[in-house]
Amino acid sequence: MTRKLIVTSALPYANAPIHIGHLVEYLQTDIWVRFQKACGNTCFYFCADDTHGTPVMIRAKSEGITPEELIRRVHGRHLKDFNGFQIEFDNYYTTHSQENRQLSERIYQGAKEAGSIVKKTIQQAYDQQEQMWLPDRYIKGTCPRCKAENQYGDSCDVCGAHYQPTEMINPVSAVSGQTPILKESEHYFFRLSDYEEELKKLFDKGYVQDSVRSKLDEWFSAGLKDWDISRDGPYFGFKIPGEEDKYFYVWLDAPIGYMASCKNYCDRNGLDFEQVWNGGEYEICHFIGKDIMYFHALFWPALLMAAKIRVPDKLFVHGFLTVNGQKMSKSKGTFIMAETYLKHLDPQFIRYYYASKLSGDIGDIELNTEDFVSRVNSDLVGKLANLASRSGPMLSQKLGGRLAVLDEKGRALADELAAAKDEITADYESLNFASVVRRITALADVCNRFVDEVRPWATLKTDPEGTRTNLTAVLNAVRILTIYLKPILPVFARNVEAFLDIPPLTFADVKTVIENKPIKDYIRLVERVEKEKVYAMIEDSKPQAAQTTQQLDEPIAPECTIEDFAKVDLRIARISKAQPVDGADKLLALELDLGALKKNVFAGIAKAYKPEDLIGRLVVCVANLKPRKMKFGLSDGMVCASGPGGENVFLLTVDSGGRPGQRVH
Ligand code: MSP
Ligand code: ZN
Repeated sequence: MTRKLIVTSALPYANAPIHIGHLVEYLQTDIWVRFQKACGNTCFYFCADDTHGTPVMIRAKSEGITPEELIRRVHGRHLKDFNGFQIEFDNYYTTHSQENRQLSERIYQGAKEAGSIVKKTIQQAYDQQEQMWLPDRYIKGTCPRCKAENQYGDSCDVCGAHYQPTEMINPVSAVSGQTPILKESEHYFFRLSDYEEELKKLFDKGYVQDSVRSKLDEWFSAGLKDWDISRDGPYFGFKIPGEEDKYFYVWLDAPIGYMASCKNYCDRNGLDFEQVWNGGEYEICHFIGKDIMYFHALFWPALLMAAKIRVPDKLFVHGFLTVNGQKMSKSKGTFIMAETYLKHLDPQFIRYYYASKLSGDIGDIELNTEDFVSRVNSDLVGKLANLASRSGPMLSQKLGGRLAVLDEKGRALADELAAAKDEITADYESLNFASVVRRITALADVCNRFVDEVRPWATLKTDPEGTRTNLTAVLNAVRILTIYLKPILPVFARNVEAFLDIPPLTFADVKTVIENKPIKDYIRLVERVEKEKVYAMIEDSKPQAAQTTQQLDEPIAPECTIEDFAKVDLRIARISKAQPVDGADKLLALELDLGALKKNVFAGIAKAYKPEDLIGRLVVCVANLKPRKMKFGLSDGMVCASGPGGENVFLLTVDSGGRPGQRVH
């Protein structure tokens, strides 16, 4: 029995390019969709750009273009990147569309009629200079808890505190640098708690993986809060019907973009959208990363329930990409854009590598550069491609390019490979691609042993027909392995189909063999990955090369005079003690020896330096800084360092001629 499925990936934001972290998701989804299609199921893969909201508006403004122009340009770039990685959507649309506006209004209206929309007056930060409301992330200031400067309006990177922007010390707008004012405004809220019982029933039916379920239970016990779904203008988005200057919050219309993409496809292909989405014939499956679980597990189905629209069947959540054990990092060159990758490496490498790492749970996915090189070279090239390159060219060049009929051992090999089909399809279905890859490489080992035993190169002269029979066995084995690999490596598969001169392979074809027919010239399937190219890609991803925007992250602060600056008394100090701080993994407690006096300071350098490496080091210290009481104790000065933060902080060093206490000019 064949199935019908609608599959989606989260909609990437239209203000940034695709990077290798995103690709975890789009590749996971693409592989699953290709698998469904290869099984003969009807499967649509829908996605779109997520175009609305403040970041798009600000980005467009800073580039001097309209938001519409920006999203048009990014749409093209995103599609180019996806094509480059052989990610194939049935429709890649945009949330800035008529379909999405209509559906958003319909769902909002439905929620309103259900009595789940309430109005409340809230106080929000407002930038008077820019005449715009400021989302928390667009406010910067000093953390009310640990007094770390330059933190975001919602949470502190140094001590991890969460707070309201109103609680910050010296908040400034990240857009203009001015102090925002607090202004009242009326907002619309969606009463999520109206759907608590219905949501729980959905989870009981298996909407999410077990590991996600436990997270949801935490959210339920914390209580479901009303969700603010409106924003005041200026805002790039859809106007709320009946309102002058209020818009739907981007996260309201973004998931509706899944439906809009589907509707646009149906309208263009003579399908009835209402029937396809709402008729119950299609399974609806969403793929997302764990950072946007709340939206997809709670808000999204609840909105659909409110509007009496069919809720999705499955939410597949994946973890985040780590590179060499850490979050992707711009300064380490591991924040790699899709485009940069494609300049240096074959997309098949990462398709294969991610597949070998994805097992269907929400754990993070680790890309280790050494492991990447070795898996691609030893398994993909050494075992899989090699099997074809050991047999294909020999048959086409030395034996006239014609397959024989399989003998008994050739049949036995084909049967052994075909027997793995059920296990492999079950693994694909449950998103355990890592297991698929393990099974395929184990089968490739069996095939390579077969080649080593029959030694075609040794029998070619003495027994050409026996050799032809053996090569026919190997090429049939290549064909079956290619069927299994095809969702992961569609281009590899296309090339195998071309040189074997056969129609596109599907899973049903594992039961058949090819015999007694001509084949074409061998096509090289995949080359070894060179380490140097991986390093070059990483170099190419480091900041100086990756400067794509002309925009400053933060506005320049108000002017200061040389006299102002001279008030800062900088002294050479020797670090006499350095210790970690309990409960603050970014801070070190330092004792500074200034000769005549000692100072204790807390420095946010723990990610960059080990305490034991600091003892005895000469640094530059702000000696006249007003002492500050911090959660961990009194900080009586500051050490000077440069760099963007985190692991990239560099203490200012002093020429070996300096002595503690000396003034620095
Ligand atoms: N626009 C929202 C989604 C709206 S869906 C109605 C968004 N966009 S995003 O561009 O930030 O992310 C798109 C998808 O990529 C998300 O599912 C996100 O989890 C995933 N990833 C983004 N960075 C990632 C990693 N570093 N690692 C793995 N997946 C990541 O969120
Ligand atoms: Zn803090």
